[in-house]
Amino acid sequence: MSDQVQMTEMNYDSDRPAAENPVKIMDLSLRDGHQSLFATRGRTEDMIPVAELIDEVGFWAVETWGGATFDTMHRFLNEDPWERLRTLKRYIKKTPFSMLLRAQNLVGYRNYADDLALAFVDRAAANGMDIFRTFDALNDYRNFETVVSQIKKCGKHFQGCICYTMTEPRLGGEVYNLGYYMTKAKDLESMGADSICIKDMAGLLSPYDAYNLVKAMKEAVSIPLHLHSHFTSGMSPMTHLKAIEAGVDIIDTCMTPYAYRTSHAAVEPLVMTLLGTNRDTGFDIKKLAQINEILEKEVLPKYKHLLDDSKVSIIDINVLLHQTPGGMLSNLVNQLREMDALDKIDEVYKELPRVRKDLGQIPLVTPTSQIVGVQTVNNVLHDTPDERYKMITGQVKDLCYGLYGKTATPINPEVQKKALKGYPRGEEPITCRPAEVLEPELDNAKEEIGGLAKDLDDLILYAQFPVTGKKFLEWKYGISPVPDNVKPISMAEVKKKDEILKKAKAGELVEKKKDAPAKSESSRTFNVFIDQEYFSVDVDPVGGPIAYSAPVAAVAPAPANPAPAAPAPAAETKTEAAAPSSSPSGTLLLAPMPGMIVKYEKKVGDSVKKGDTVVVLEAMKMENALPAPCDGTIKAIDFDSGDSITKGAVLCVIG
Ligand code: CO
Repeated sequence: MSDQVQMTEMNYDSDRPAAENPVKIMDLSLRDGHQSLFATRGRTEDMIPVAELIDEVGFWAVETWGGATFDTMHRFLNEDPWERLRTLKRYIKKTPFSMLLRAQNLVGYRNYADDLALAFVDRAAANGMDIFRTFDALNDYRNFETVVSQIKKCGKHFQGCICYTMTEPRLGGEVYNLGYYMTKAKDLESMGADSICIKDMAGLLSPYDAYNLVKAMKEAVSIPLHLHSHFTSGMSPMTHLKAIEAGVDIIDTCMTPYAYRTSHAAVEPLVMTLLGTNRDTGFDIKKLAQINEILEKEVLPKYKHLLDDSKVSIIDINVLLHQTPGGMLSNLVNQLREMDALDKIDEVYKELPRVRKDLGQIPLVTPTSQIVGVQTVNNVLHDTPDERYKMITGQVKDLCYGLYGKTATPINPEVQKKALKGYPRGEEPITCRPAEVLEPELDNAKEEIGGLAKDLDDLILYAQFPVTGKKFLEWKYGISPVPDNVKPISMAEVKKKDEILKKAKAGELVEKKKDAPAKSESSRTFNVFIDQEYFSVDVDPVGGPIAYSAPVAAVAPAPANPAPAAPAPAAETKTEAAAPSSSPSGTLLLAPMPGMIVKYEKKVGDSVKKGDTVVVLEAMKMENALPAPCDGTIKAIDFDSGDSITKGAVLCVIG
């Protein structure tokens, strides 16, 4: 086929004849679009108004599931992820569904055992999934074996991904060169892939590299080639065009309201660009406009507050400078902000390539982007001039053990040795397929959750997300009340909020209502900041005062040994007193960062040695094992598994 995209047709009507080799398009609005721009908070009820219209466009597939959706839906939206698939299937009947599957990591953040992986794929297929876009963060395809066998068994489409990453400013260098990608493409074809996706999650693929890559790959393999290139750096529309010139078969785009920034290029400009050529998509741009209109007016107002509009610029120049994926960058910034350490961002940029190199030059994509990112922040915040890797996350330990697979280059042996000291599975790393050392886990999960999981779908959810999954199942079956902050908001509420905001900006919010009730003693005054202005608002709770926890510093005894972090205000996320209720004296183990308690390894009365793991804290989705600061006996523990805590919260008292 000629390199050139050629003008063939001068009839631009929607019923124009099909092009010789139309570029196929997958729409990502319902998954990666809102995952990239709106913190994955898209609700099923907001997808339904456009679902049937999307089905009419002629997309090759629609991405509807996977990635972070499974996690955020049950955790933040009180939605059953399985139900979304079944619901959308009722509206989108013609266009195949695609999901992003993290291979043996499924839709979670670690490698799961084979029995869980098989069950997950089986149930996803049964609930309506057609295309399994599968990736492994290390491009270690041994992690594909189990899920691929099941995808094939279910008669579904296996799309194998190659995570695109670099160590140089452009394609090439020692590790990630053209040869690397060709080998990976051939590996996928010989595994039986129905198509190959070049997964450029950070928007690093530059247009001319894309041309060379696609051209070489089209010659090396015969299965269709699909390009997934995030806009983040601003290059992707150019990259798309060069990839199309090199013969790429399928391109990923979003509907305009879900496009650009860290998401993907919009579909409409591409449709117009290719109109009348031999690669014409054949799409009716008026239909796309109709979908956009509904999204813009009826859906996006509910989400616009989630858009990171702190910058005017829609391009992230840091990606070009530091090669950090957009999502990872915002995670790093959030993590630093929560730790009051935003001024350390430049140190983080410097430390990041060092950590990545120590950990085997792994690609940066979920979950490796979090693993490298969180460890980098830990190093910047906790390392001392005489000791590096002072606080190593559980996931870095797992990586060093080989639980994620084979890294592109060997892990720094010193870091590996330190990470594996006392590692429960053994201090000697493995070289086999990671899941081979994992015990089956579904039966255990079933035993733990008992009757709360009513079917296999519930059980699979719980097995991947034991803490938040259990909470969700309790909401689902009415065992505990659904908190307000996971409930949907309506357009009427959005309008009301906007009106209040408008009034506040116009200075009308202070106007007193004549029939206002008298202020009670529990009334509290809050300062509400809007842009440069602030308003003083009195909040008077109806039916009793607000439970308010006293700061730890005021009630906790002075630590016998200085604790690693200064006491901060108490965990306001927990309404009971945050300080140990019995207030015994002793050494405090303070939370070095905000997060969620995964589990306590010790209970009150247990004796501990300095360095023993007392509690596992999840922060930025990484698990951190927090050691006892001294020898002694656990005198008090005041949190439970699942509790959210702030930095400085007293996790236990050792006396
Ligand atoms: Co993506």
